[in-house]
Amino acid sequence: MRVLGIETSCDETAAAVVEDGRRLLSSAVASSLDLHIPFGGVVPEIAARSHIEVILPVIDKALRKAKTDWEGIDAIAVTQGPGLLGSLLVGVLTARTLAITKKKTLYAVNHVEAHVYAAFLEEKQPEFPLLALIVSGGHTQLVFFRGHFDYKVLGQTMDDAAGEAFDKVAKILGLPYPGGPSIAENAKMGNPESVKLPLARTENKYDFSFSGLKTAVLRAAQTQAGRAYDFPSTKLPEALSRSQKANIAASFQKTAVYTLVRHLRKAEIEFNPKSIVIAGGVAANQLLRTGAKEYLKTGVVYPDIKLCTDNAAMIAALGYFQASKKRPEADPYSLEPNPGLMM
Ligand code: KG4
Ligand code: ZN
Repeated sequence: MRVLGIETSCDETAAAVVEDGRRLLSSAVASSLDLHIPFGGVVPEIAARSHIEVILPVIDKALRKAKTDWEGIDAIAVTQGPGLLGSLLVGVLTARTLAITKKKTLYAVNHVEAHVYAAFLEEKQPEFPLLALIVSGGHTQLVFFRGHFDYKVLGQTMDDAAGEAFDKVAKILGLPYPGGPSIAENAKMGNPESVKLPLARTENKYDFSFSGLKTAVLRAAQTQAGRAYDFPSTKLPEALSRSQKANIAASFQKTAVYTLVRHLRKAEIEFNPKSIVIAGGVAANQLLRTGAKEYLKTGVVYPDIKLCTDNAAMIAALGYFQASKKRPEADPYSLEPNPGLMM
């Protein structure tokens, strides 16, 4: 069974063709990231407008790369949420129209759940029971799956998402957006023990909180700069030396990664999973990968780096499992986006 996936929840316009939920035939992604860089974050109106411009060429590209026409597609899976309303609307309306005109079954997919399914496209398949950590710019969820569609959310963030924390700390330090890669790069030159940063306490031991850490970074940066410059302001990063920035970046990265790995380890002990999946943009972080290898006893499956960030292959993969497990189809005449869709 071949599923065409369509993803437009944030700033990536993506389409992909996946066979039997496991074989990736094609994946096309167009990102409007460059247009958002001057603003230091995604601007919803700009993202929605770029989706409209590129969605049809991106779908055509995915079909062409998969060497198939519409005859060879059995179903369409589209991200219903969570995400930006204007962005989701473009994907959902395109998928609805194509489902009607090309006479295909339509499946509505949860974007956060789909991040985990990117791991099923790997050679080494994850096994149930499965513990999943989904960490990106928009989400931070720790989830225990007993099987497909049989899961329990153990914890989530009370404030900022993990990737968002990297992005905000980068902004404090005047490092380029997206913050994850630029923090990681600067951290290489810094001493992770140089700045003492607090670990958040949450009522539920599996929940996360990153906003206190971000504030502590701001205070440390102000102390090192010798003046409590406002944030956001360019004055603060200008007053910091390269090594001060590197030390703060390294200390922040260590603390954030420690929190993620510690949560995984606690859940591993309690739930005894057969596999662990770490997915989402932050899964690209090298320190996180090293920490997971060192402290976790269970084998970790990472989606391919290209499938850690937003893509449509994961949407098509989950769409396949929805179809094969006889989950309800979506009505192409009435499906609406759901920006606040929960797992
Ligand atoms: O999954 P993704 O592409 O988009 C969302 O759905 O949010 O994740 C993007 C996020 C950004 O916040 C970015 O700073 C973070 O992932 N990220 C990283 C790294 N690469 C990307 N965070 C930490 N370390 C990295 N190497
Ligand atoms: Zn995502």
